[in-house]
Amino acid sequence: MTASDRPDEPVKPKFLMICVNRRFRADEASCAARGSQALADALETGIRQRRIDIKTERSVCLGHCQVGPSIRLAPGGRFILGKTLDDVNDLLDELQLICGTCDDVLLPLDLLGS
Ligand code: FES
Repeated sequence: MTASDRPDEPVKPKFLMICVNRRFRADEASCAARGSQALADALETGIRQRRIDIKTERSVCLGHCQVGPSIRLAPGGRFILGKTLDDVNDLLDELQLICGTCDDVLLPLDLLGS
């Protein structure tokens, strides 16, 4: 029996989408202006170090610009909004709990792209 056979079982996310969209007009909110690139860097590093079984994907606007940085578990998962670098360890703890860790060989960080 797989998770898709159990409709009440939450689907394990495969991707963590992180909006890094930047708007250049000062009167328009954007995740990049709220620190999403540094947040993406920290999450990507933490996911690799902990070997959490999820891939990250930097994305364009996810439609929640006013309350960003916007992060979404995909496919079809919930949004995680308004987090800062202070929240990274808690986010990584949660991702590790939800996704587990992978058994892949750990590559040196300098050989991995984002
Ligand atoms: S700019 Fe990030 S959700 Fe719109």
